[in-house]
Parts: sequence; C-alpha cells; structure tokens
Amino acid sequence: MDNIKLRNVHENDANFIFSIMNTDSILDSLNEIPTQLGDWEDAIKEWKQDDDEEDYVICDGDTPIGWIGVNGLSSSEKIAYLKLAAILPDRHNKGIGHYIISQVIEMLRQRGYSKIALYTDQDNRKARACYSKCGFEVTETLTEEMSNGRIVTRCKMELLL
Ligand SMILES: CC(C)(COP(=O)(O)OP(=O)(O)OC[C@H]1O[C@@H](n2cnc3c(N)ncnc32)[C@H](O)[C@@H]1OP(=O)(O)O)[C@@H](O)C(=O)NCCC(=O)NCCS
Repeated sequence: MDNIKLRNVHENDANFIFSIMNTDSILDSLNEIPTQLGDWEDAIKEWKQDDDEEDYVICDGDTPIGWIGVNGLSSSEKIAYLKLAAILPDRHNKGIGHYIISQVIEMLRQRGYSKIALYTDQDNRKARACYSKCGFEVTETLTEEMSNGRIVTRCKMELLL
C-alpha cells in the first residue's frame, strides 16, 4: 500500500469523478443515475466552500483510483458521516478500501470526532465487508427509495471513536 495516498479533491478532478461515477458497476452498486461532467464541476466548487464536508481523491502514486467524502464535520455532536467511497472496479478486493477508510477514521479520531456513521445497501456485501473490517457495526436497517427508483433495504453502520 506504499503508493496509495489520499489528497484533497481539486477542480481538475471533475473528469475523473465524472468517469468513475458513470461506470456501470459503480452506478449499479450505488443505485445512482448517470451524471454530466458539469454536475461534478459544480459539486467540487460547492464542496470547497462547505465547512461541513471534505472530499479526497485516492491515488496510486499520481494516478487517481477512487474518491471518498466525509460530511457532518460541523455537527455539534462531533458525529461525522462517510458520505461515499468509490474505487475503480479493477482495484476492488485488494484491501485499498480498508486501508484508506482506516486512515480517514484515524484522522477524524485525532480531530476529536466521537463517532462515524454511514449508510449502505444491505445487499452491497463488498462494502459491508469492507466497513466491518474497519470496525463499523450495523445499528439500524431502513428502506429507502434510491436515485434510480429502486426501493432498497439500507443499513446504518456506526463506529465509536
Ligand atoms: C466499497 C469499496 C469502496 C470497498 O473498497 P475495496 O478496496 O474493494 O475494499 P477491501 O478490499 O478493503 O474490502 C472488500 C472486502 O469485501 C469482501 N467481499 C467482496 N465481495 C464480497 C461478497 N460478495 N460477499 C462478502 N464479502 C465480499 C472482500 O473479500 C474483502 O474482504 P477481505 O479483505 O476480508 O477479503 C469498493 O468496493 C467500491 O468502490 N465499491 C463500489 C462503490 C460502492 O459500493 N461504495 C460503497 C457505497 S456505501
């Protein structure tokens, strides 16, 4: 994992995020719908001005291979949320998710957050396995209509810091 690093998202990452977020298997796992490049250009500008959220690109050396976002950072309860994690499909199941999420957990612990929470689909076994390895536990299940119209059973997972 020596070459795997996190860096802050910047505006010229819009193309990469546009590309990964329109990959069929990623759209399917997230129950999302296709987006335009401009959506991500706008989103990155908004994230940069939002104290509640931070977004990072996961790189192998200089090459982007995924991204991860956290929000809830301004909450008075000091509860952060893992908003999204997405890694290029050909890099899955190699421990990169566990490695990067563990770094984010440690960074939030050092900044005084008391808990990290996230929502994922109950049938997203890869994501659930990755989050469990990182120490998250399912605390709630709920049903939600997703962006693509599917009605999905979702899990809230939490980790006390
Ligand atoms: C979720 C995601 C970020 C995890 O990253 P990753 O680098 O693949 O994660 P890791 O390799 O650290 O862990 C994946 C684990 O899932 C396990 N796994 C894979 N498929 C599985 C399945 N069908 N059932 C159970 N476990 C499974 C792997 O064996 C691995 O566990 P192990 O290391 O104990 O063998 C990545 O897969 C991804 O980008 N998925 C698409 C987007 C997505 O679903 N994001 C999450 C939204 S909440």
